[in-house]
Amino acid sequence: MVRAAVPDSKSDTDVLTPRFSVRSRTMDVQALQADALAAVAAASSVEEIDAVRVEYLGRKSALKLALREVRDRETGMALNAARLALEEAVEARAAELARAELDRRLTEERVDVTLPVGTYRRGHLHLITQIRREVEDTFLGLGYRVVDGREVETTRYNFDALNFPPGHPARSPLHSLFLDDERVLRTETSPSQIRAMEAEQPPIYVVSLGRVYRRDTPDATHSPIFHQVEGLAVDEGITLADLTGTLDFLFRSLFGGERRTEFRTHYFPFTEPSIEAYVSCHVCDGDGCPVCRHSGWIEVGGAGMVDPALFEFVGYDPERYSGFAFGWGLERIAMLRHEFPDLRELWRNDLRFTRQF
Ligand code: DAH
Repeated sequence: MVRAAVPDSKSDTDVLTPRFSVRSRTMDVQALQADALAAVAAASSVEEIDAVRVEYLGRKSALKLALREVRDRETGMALNAARLALEEAVEARAAELARAELDRRLTEERVDVTLPVGTYRRGHLHLITQIRREVEDTFLGLGYRVVDGREVETTRYNFDALNFPPGHPARSPLHSLFLDDERVLRTETSPSQIRAMEAEQPPIYVVSLGRVYRRDTPDATHSPIFHQVEGLAVDEGITLADLTGTLDFLFRSLFGGERRTEFRTHYFPFTEPSIEAYVSCHVCDGDGCPVCRHSGWIEVGGAGMVDPALFEFVGYDPERYSGFAFGWGLERIAMLRHEFPDLRELWRNDLRFTRQF
């Protein structure tokens, strides 16, 4: 058995285990190595193997101190061999533990994509967009086409072609939003009738939906920007009965059977005869309340038989063709459908409101 001298500086006693007698100034190298290897094998984490390395191979370890003090070749070789063996063992164990640690972290910290996540509320289309698509679908089902119009219109299409007389109030900047003398933010979707008729010959069955603009003061049933659906049917032999039949169909699909509808004669420059459609008030069910201005009815929009003057404008033969047209407010439809009293709610973007639909 090789015994090595042990240094006797006082602080060194701290790092020596009792097995290595300070007093005898000798060290059992094999026992030390066995102890160290046991400690290496027992180390179960990167921190622990680091501590083992410091304890047995650190600058102040018994081995290093003994090496410094070594006097004879035999002892030196024995100590060096022990050092090499220990270094190898420590490195091997350290690598093993580092790998194990990495494996553990990879397993523990893996994102399990199959775990249920917190629920997120999905957004949805705005109510007006939903209604717009529903109306489009209803008419597509009847064989109509959906056509686009223009939000910036010329006064020619917005007024002249639609037979608005020169002094009509809608031509006034008090009622309509003009960009200049010739261009106006469309006050209705009706100009799309003219554009549809100019684009092709009858038979024509089209709807056109979108925003319209008026210089209106916002209140429960008015807004300076709102949405309309415009419908136009031109063919041979179209009558008022086709119009009311179509509107009844639309009302039933939108509101169900409970609400009463009423058609009243009216005037529009571009239809003759003209009617206005009313639906019984959803708030008071016809008794009269502030929402329906105490009339019991809410106007949904206008309709009528296309005035022959429009056919002349687009070059159709009024003797051969007849047609009907209608224009409804989508906001009004939304209110009647969901029974809320103020259309301004639609654009307030209060989630407590918009999430209901
Ligand atoms: N353009 C009308 C309005 O905004 C609504 C309307 C009435 C459209 C009769 C039509 C119609 O196509 O025939 O008040």
